Amino acid sequence: MVHPSDIAGPPPEETPVPPELQAALSALGLGSAKVEPVWRNEAGGLTFAVIPAATVEPGSPEYFVKWNPVGSGESLVGEAERLRWLAGKHPVPSVEAMIMAGAGEILLTRALPGRSAVSERWKVQPDRALRALGEGLRRLHDLTAADCPFDWGVDQRLLAAGGSAGRDVSELGEAPPIDRLVICQGDPCAPNTLLGEDGSFLAHVDLARLGLADRWADLAVMSLSLEWNYPEYDEAVFWEAYGIDPDPERIAYYRRLWEAE
Ligand SMILES: Nc1ncnc2c1ncn2[C@@H]1O[C@H](COP(=O)(O)OP(=O)(O)O)[C@@H](O)[C@H]1O
Ligand SMILES: [Mg+2]
Repeated sequence: MVHPSDIAGPPPEETPVPPELQAALSALGLGSAKVEPVWRNEAGGLTFAVIPAATVEPGSPEYFVKWNPVGSGESLVGEAERLRWLAGKHPVPSVEAMIMAGAGEILLTRALPGRSAVSERWKVQPDRALRALGEGLRRLHDLTAADCPFDWGVDQRLLAAGGSAGRDVSELGEAPPIDRLVICQGDPCAPNTLLGEDGSFLAHVDLARLGLADRWADLAVMSLSLEWNYPEYDEAVFWEAYGIDPDPERIAYYRRLWEAE
């Protein structure tokens, strides 16, 4: 398996701003803002911090903007829809604009005052990071799930993996019975949780796949992401912060499913 940080992570500083993104920012009155690359994902999508020329707090971003080449996987349209639905229910970025621009999709959100759990600041304090990751998922999973219109269940994922993605899903085995159906983050990796200045859970980002699923779909992958991002650190802190003991069978199934995708 490819270690995800080999393909996703902070891009080089000189990463160019795609022309259609620069044009969209100009149309939004942000043409003179500083646009700094912060993240590149596995599908070639880019995230930039947008720092308007005249900010209240010099140097701090006012917006983040995601740009995805069309057809690169998850759509930013689906992410914008989920962010809007979650507003007021759970801390997530608020949507300022969702634009289809030629070969790319553009999602502009208001900057949240936090840093990702894998930022330099929190990587050296894994105790804080793991606690916040556990607290964040617990908070999301404790929301009322009944009215969630989005699905991240096994059937839908198997169909997508076996269908358009053409993966062989026959080796996965039977899905374990559902423990608790909750609203899952859907891309539960450490970089998609933001921590506040005090080290507590601030918000979730990257919610294109958010939907109803067994809570172990999130827990299995988040705990895997801990091994990648905080090697040699005891993951017991995460399980304690979430408030559950690891379930090896469900963890194994949902990791296999994740890897098959
Ligand atoms: N509104 C926001 N406020 C603060 N940070 C953000 C915001 N949106 C994105 N980020 C930062 O940018 C990174 C990349 O965004 P993300 O949505 O995870 O993109 P990707 O789908 O490429 O992984 C996040 O890990 C987070 O650090
Ligand atoms: Mg992400």
